[in-house]
Amino acid sequence: MSSSPISRPMTVPDFCAAKGQGRKLVVVTAYDYTSAYWCDAAGVDAILVGDSLGMVIQGHPTALPVTLRQVIYHTRCVVRGVRKALVIADLPFLSYQISSAQAVRSAGRLLKSGGAQAVKLEGGVRTAPMIRACVQAGIPVMGHVGLTPQSVHQFGGFRVQRDRDQLLADAHAIVEAGVFAIVLESIPAAIAAEITSAVPVPTIGIGAGPQCDGQVLVFHDLLGLYPDFQPKFAKRYADLGTTIKNAIETFCQDVRTGAFPTSQHSFR
Ligand code: KIV
Repeated sequence: MSSSPISRPMTVPDFCAAKGQGRKLVVVTAYDYTSAYWCDAAGVDAILVGDSLGMVIQGHPTALPVTLRQVIYHTRCVVRGVRKALVIADLPFLSYQISSAQAVRSAGRLLKSGGAQAVKLEGGVRTAPMIRACVQAGIPVMGHVGLTPQSVHQFGGFRVQRDRDQLLADAHAIVEAGVFAIVLESIPAAIAAEITSAVPVPTIGIGAGPQCDGQVLVFHDLLGLYPDFQPKFAKRYADLGTTIKNAIETFCQDVRTGAFPTSQHSFR
């Protein structure tokens, strides 16, 4: 297994330095203690407490209903399971778009109450002022351009974003505002490669091809846990959904037939 060469807890500067060292970064989402524990034990560089929790934890069709309080709650659970990975918490819809002051207040709560080390927020040119304000307050910000799921209705669905000039302008605007890394979501691989060589900070791809400086996957997609759909860009590394279903079916059968519990599971 190739894991981070750093034996102490990952910091934001360590994360940024990986780009210059040509070391690919690995990010996985997690939303609770147990999933964070296993991601950390497997050696991921960072854990993202994504607002994708709206879909994979809460069962909504989009991330839009997720609140700041919910992300703080999940971030607290995640932090308890982590020893080494950098913990980045997502700013949910309408927790930062209104003003720079709102962005700093919300981001500050993710660090102060949630225990995250950094935040992520979506958008390019439009959200650069909010990013700048957070960075000036001492809060590390990861950017997110391309298919930004909080704008799903503006895009008319979860669609690949192909406007090269806009994507480059967005990436440059947020680098200039101070992001330490950028998520590139659902954009053509060639444009992601161009952005990756044009910016000084690591790019973390999801549906953005192999040339990014790192990759992020949603925990439930990676492990085959999400029943509703499987995005084209998500490789399944396990089919835990089926494993879980089979195990629970066996438990049902054992209880109904009296095969469980035995004396081995009982107290004298
Ligand atoms: O919310 C999330 O999980 C994300 C990742 C998919 C990048 O934003």
